[in-house]
Amino acid sequence: MRKVTLVLTIFLLELVLQQQEALASNGGCVATSSCSSTDSQPQQVHISLAGQGYMRISWITSYKMATSVVEFGSKSGSYNEYIVGDSFSYHYYSYVSGKIHYVTIGPLTPDTTYYYRCGGSGSEYSFRTAPAAFPAEFVLVGGVGQTHRTKATLERISQRCYDAVIVAGGLAYADGHQSLWDSFGQLIEPYASQKPWMVTSSKHEVEGVCTVSKGPQPFKAFNARWLMPYHESGSASNLYYSFDVAGAHYIMLGSYADFDTSSAQYEWLKADLTSINRSKTPWVFVVVNTPWYTSSVAYKGEGESMRKAMENLLYTFRVDVVFSSRVNAYERFPRIYDNKQDACAPVYITLGDAGFKPNFEFEHGAPSTSLHRELTFGHGRLRIYDNNKAHFTWFRTEDDSDYGNPSDQVWLTNLMSSDKCADLCACKKFSCIKTHNDEL
Ligand SMILES: *[C@@H]1O[C@H](CO)[C@@H](O)[C@H](O)[C@H]1NC(C)=O
Repeated sequence: MRKVTLVLTIFLLELVLQQQEALASNGGCVATSSCSSTDSQPQQVHISLAGQGYMRISWITSYKMATSVVEFGSKSGSYNEYIVGDSFSYHYYSYVSGKIHYVTIGPLTPDTTYYYRCGGSGSEYSFRTAPAAFPAEFVLVGGVGQTHRTKATLERISQRCYDAVIVAGGLAYADGHQSLWDSFGQLIEPYASQKPWMVTSSKHEVEGVCTVSKGPQPFKAFNARWLMPYHESGSASNLYYSFDVAGAHYIMLGSYADFDTSSAQYEWLKADLTSINRSKTPWVFVVVNTPWYTSSVAYKGEGESMRKAMENLLYTFRVDVVFSSRVNAYERFPRIYDNKQDACAPVYITLGDAGFKPNFEFEHGAPSTSLHRELTFGHGRLRIYDNNKAHFTWFRTEDDSDYGNPSDQVWLTNLMSSDKCADLCACKKFSCIKTHNDEL
């Protein structure tokens, strides 16, 4: 009897040791490659805003039976709530993704740290919700990629507090190589599991062709891996949506979705702009991948048809700033409408290079409206002080020592604080938009 017990004990001990070894060697594995198909370790954790007071948690597991549950609470290690969400996977030719989990948690209290765990086991993550009111600070990037530059930029970003990351397109640069989405997810997890990442797509996220009936649909991986709150903002497509954070209203447009004046995106944009309450969200920003104003040799004119279709709306509703990417460089324009400076129009800023390799040329001799341009890796920061004042800064990644010394900066005054701009504005009273549109 005693002998049997001893054998059993040794057997169990070996089993435990084997499991520990297996766990230890699972540290850095990528979904669907080297891991065993029973690995339920959460990978590629990222979070995004999902409507007022809600956060969407996303992660991937190799194990197809792993549960889509998030446990969370405001005390580390003690989770007093849990929510079960959804999951799915996608195919791209012969590639089959891991199980992609989505759980939306909330309602959450502003300015509060939450601790969470994915799938019922494993590491604890945490994030702090944005404040209900200003001041608030946003990081703006484009052309992220996954180079050593990307790492340096992300490291630099994490050196100072901020409330959310806004990506103007250019994520993994997978361009059809699906495992690059996985390595990108792993690269950004330390940052994107702590702060919401709100993204719009670029040409490198299309990865499909509508015309080839047998090929994958465009944006298959992007839509599967980066579900944004389009449903929550009344949009029918993950390629364009809006969200409120602190007192800012962000509109994310899709350069690679239809945008002409008869398109669904145009109709949605008009409805979204109309619904903004400038007392609740005094600041309005638009993020669109392809810039409407640029002095890049390669990309000048690429955003022209979208500009012609939509600029009028952004002008009429007094959008404060339009951020773009696409061009792998930094460039800032003044308040501009229909190629002419206009005190009531948005400022245009291109911030296209957080880390992707630059491949770029500016036109010789900057146009008079191009106030600052440089071919550098970096990130933008938009600090909103109150309803009227905000400060935008561009930080080069290479200047890693001093956050006090941005390579470009501009103070912004809210357009609604100008009587002249506010008087003409459709957002003050919606009924005037029709009249104003007719005038133009
Ligand atoms: C706009 O927001 C303010 C402040 O939250 C609120 O008092 C007001 O009623 C809102 N206006 C409309 C038309 O909803």
